[in-house]
Amino acid sequence: MGQAVETKYISVEIERQDTTDSQPYWEKFNVPYRHGMNVISILMEIQRNPVTADGKNTSPVSWDMNCLEEVCGACSMVINGRPRQSCSALVDQLEQPIKLQPMSTFPVVRDLQIDRSRMFDSLKKVKAWVPIDGSYDLGEGPRMPERKREWAYELSKCMTCGVCLEACPNVNTHSDFMGPAPLSQVRLFNAHPTGAMNKDERLSAIMGEGGLANCGNSQNCVVACPKGIPLTTSIASLNRATTVQMFKNFFGSDHMVD
Ligand code: SF4
Ligand code: FES
Repeated sequence: MGQAVETKYISVEIERQDTTDSQPYWEKFNVPYRHGMNVISILMEIQRNPVTADGKNTSPVSWDMNCLEEVCGACSMVINGRPRQSCSALVDQLEQPIKLQPMSTFPVVRDLQIDRSRMFDSLKKVKAWVPIDGSYDLGEGPRMPERKREWAYELSKCMTCGVCLEACPNVNTHSDFMGPAPLSQVRLFNAHPTGAMNKDERLSAIMGEGGLANCGNSQNCVVACPKGIPLTTSIASLNRATTVQMFKNFFGSDHMVD
């Protein structure tokens, strides 16, 4: 007769919320352990069998995900008190009970699912793109020196995950501060040879309400960013650029030619 194999369970506590405006509440789950699980696989297991640790039937937990390889930023949540991506959070590396909460900087849609619109709205506000609209073939883009391309590539890794906004004490429901990620994108697109055509507009956008002046230099963002983006260096560089821009705006120089 074969020996019975004892099932190991993972202890999970989830802060849930049924609608954007309803009160949050906690539920506990015991999820069967499998080797190599990440937080997403815990949530999938709960989705398959939505029963709490005390045997009560409940609704499946909602969350967002897409790429499953820390590239899209959709699956961000607070795991054991730290904002991060749930697809790259491995169960074996987490203390139990594993506590899952939605990021508090963004409105909750349901459970762990949040609405990151404020980040996308900020990207629109600062024109975080290179405008090359046209119905004809524009040919190849300008060449960039290799060192600059490598540098720009690091900044381009931002996945709009929201972790830096969650980590920043100055981004909250009482403030309209756009946070570090959109600011860093201004630096990226202003450094692009074609993107530089709209440099003035981007700088002016971050000199206004909710922009650069709201940064309190806590430096939490740069520590929290999963992509290692040099956010505080970007902010310091933009401080210099906006000071120059302020003088240009004030003296009305022909700033498109220098
Ligand atoms: S800068 Fe880093 S932490 Fe902030 S949104 Fe982009 S990837 Fe996420
Ligand atoms: S699912 Fe895309 S970053 Fe986790």
